[in-house]
Amino acid sequence: MNILLIGSGGREHTFAWKIAQSPLCEKLYIAPGNAGTKAFGENVAIHVTDFVKMQDFCVANHVEMVVVGPEEPLVKGLRDHFQADDRTKHIGIVGPGKAGAELEGSKDFSKKFMKKYGIPTAAYETFTKETVEEGISYIRKQQLPVVLKADGLAAGKGVLICPSHKEAESEFKSMLLEAKFGAASQKVVVEEFLSGIELSVFVALDGSDYVILPEAKDYKRIGDGDTGPNTGGMGAVSPVPFADADFMQKVSERIVSPTFKGLKEENIDYKGFIFIGLMNQGGDPFVIEYNVRMGDPETQAVLPRIKSDFVSLLEGIAKGNLRTYQLELEDFVSATVVMVAGGYPGDYEKGKPITGLTNTGNDRALVFHAGTALNQSGQVISNGGRVLGITGQGNDLSAALNSAYRRVNQIHWEGVNFRKDIGQDILQWEKTNVND
Ligand code: AMP
Ligand code: GLY
Repeated sequence: MNILLIGSGGREHTFAWKIAQSPLCEKLYIAPGNAGTKAFGENVAIHVTDFVKMQDFCVANHVEMVVVGPEEPLVKGLRDHFQADDRTKHIGIVGPGKAGAELEGSKDFSKKFMKKYGIPTAAYETFTKETVEEGISYIRKQQLPVVLKADGLAAGKGVLICPSHKEAESEFKSMLLEAKFGAASQKVVVEEFLSGIELSVFVALDGSDYVILPEAKDYKRIGDGDTGPNTGGMGAVSPVPFADADFMQKVSERIVSPTFKGLKEENIDYKGFIFIGLMNQGGDPFVIEYNVRMGDPETQAVLPRIKSDFVSLLEGIAKGNLRTYQLELEDFVSATVVMVAGGYPGDYEKGKPITGLTNTGNDRALVFHAGTALNQSGQVISNGGRVLGITGQGNDLSAALNSAYRRVNQIHWEGVNFRKDIGQDILQWEKTNVND
C-alpha cells in the first residue's frame, strides 16, 4: 500500500526507516520530511497542518494510510478533516481525532479524564482569569515546589516548576493575565509535585484493543546531570530496568486499562498511539501527562527494538484489527544520544555542514536525522535545534552506549553539543539494585 507519513523530526526518520523495511509498503511519502527520510521515500512539500493539500495529494497518489507523527495536526483535527470528505474517508489514519487529541491538547481535559476514571495522577485544580484570586490562595496552600501548567499546547514550554510560592504566584498571574503562553495559558492547571524516576510508556490503540509497546526513559534537560533548561529531549534508553514485570503490571492495571475504558465511555474512537509520561513514586506509577503520539527521541530507541512487521502494527491501528497482531521484540538494548546545535534550546545557528555521516563499519549504530537539510551542493547541513539522534545497540546498556558514543564522536559540525551522561543514572541504578 502507499503510505503518507506526516512530520519532519527524528521520530519520523525512524518511522520512515521502519516502514520502508516492510513488504507491505509500496510507496512511502513523507510530508515534509528531512534529509534523512529521503533515503526511504519521497519527501513532499506539504505543511503538517495543510489538510486540504494533504487530502488532494492522497487522492492523486492513491494513499491508503496516513501516519501522523506530531501532535499539532492531530489536535487541529487531521482525522476529522479526512473523515468529513467523501474522497478521503476510506483512508486509514494512525492518530486520534480532535476529541481524543484533547488528552494532549488540553491539560484540563486530561486531568478531568484521569479524575473521572480513577487514574493515579497529581492532585490539581484548574483556574482562569475569572478565578485568579482563588488560584492564589490554592497556590499558597501547596507544598513546594508548585507545578503550573498552561492548559493548551505551548511547544513543550508550558510547564513551570516553581521553587517558591512567590514565584508561583507571579508566574501564575503572568500566564493568566498577561497571556505568557498566548491562548494556551487562558486556563492554568496548578498541581502537586511528584518525585521519583520518570518513564515513558507507549500504547498502540485501535478503538477495540490495545498493545503496550516497549517503554523508554528520556533525558529532557540540556546539561549533564539533568541540569539547565528543558529541551525536546537529549537522549533515550529502552528498556528501562526498573520497569520490571511487577511495575508494568501496575501500569497496565491502574493506568492503561482504565485509560482505554475511559475513552470508550467517552465515545472516543481512539486509533493511534498514546505516550504516557509516568512518575515511579516509591514503586507506584502516577501519570504526569498524556501525549497522543509517539515520543521523540524515545521512538528512536523504541522502534529498532520492534522485530515484528511495523506496517502491520500501523495497519492494525488504522483498521481496528490489532487483536491479531503479535508484537515481537529484539533482545538488544537501545541507547539514543541526541546531537544538537550549540546554543539550543536558546538561540542557535543553522546551515552548518555536517561531516562524518558516512557509515564507517559500525553496524550497531543508527543515525536518525531531525533538523537537517541538503544545501545546493547536496551536502547535509544543520537545520534545527535537535539535529541528529544516534541509536546504539548492545547486549547490555554499557555496550549500547559505547556503540552510540563511538558513532557520535565520528560526526561533527561547528558548535555541536550533546549530553555525555545518557544512561548513567540507569547504570548506577543497576549497580545498586543488582543484588536485591
Ligand atoms: P511536559 O512539558 O508536560 O512534558 O512536562 C515537562 C516535565 O515537567 C515532565 O517531563 C516532568 O519532568 C515535569 N513535570 C510535569 N508535571 C510534574 C509533576 N506534577 N511533578 C513533577 N514533575 C512534573
Ligand atoms: N520526549 C518527549 C516528547 O516527545 O514529548
